[in-house]
Amino acid sequence: MADAMAPHGDAGQGETRRDFLKLTTGAFAAVGVVVIAWPFIHSMNPARDVLALASTEVDLSPIAVGQAVTVVWRGKPVFVRHRTPEEIAAALAVPLATLPDPQPDPARVKEPEWLVVLGVCTHLGCVPLGQKPTDARGDFGGWFCPCHGSHYDTSGRIRRGPAPANLAVPEYVFTSPTTIRIG
Ligand code: FES
Repeated sequence: MADAMAPHGDAGQGETRRDFLKLTTGAFAAVGVVVIAWPFIHSMNPARDVLALASTEVDLSPIAVGQAVTVVWRGKPVFVRHRTPEEIAAALAVPLATLPDPQPDPARVKEPEWLVVLGVCTHLGCVPLGQKPTDARGDFGGWFCPCHGSHYDTSGRIRRGPAPANLAVPEYVFTSPTTIRIG
């Protein structure tokens, strides 16, 4: 009888041990997820100039002439560039007939010094370079998409490479002389 009970008792203990191990593993796994998730979530925290909202307000006052910021609007990067007089002049000087996607610069801006475009290459959707001072800006001083070599000018218009269209201008309004609301 005792013999008959012993395996049963061992099995019960074994199960308890297994349960404990399972619980322990579960606890470690949970801790692991937290530890791994934290830097990820932390890195997703929006910087002051990076927000992801249905409608995004951008304070333009800290953006100096020649600087650019990237904001996230509806999951997409939007480039906001405070253009220099030279960049505006270059955008205005281009004969429309030479453009693959002809669009006059004034049709793409609300205020000449502020260019607001989606930071999504119109070829296959890469994010072009040109936002950081150290970035390549391509042969036309705007943005350069390294994926397949598309060059955009200071109005965000495609000038060379496989991209078929200009960087899109999102809907936005000036809610004050130094604030825009995108969306
Ligand atoms: Fe930009 Fe192809 S995605 S050039």
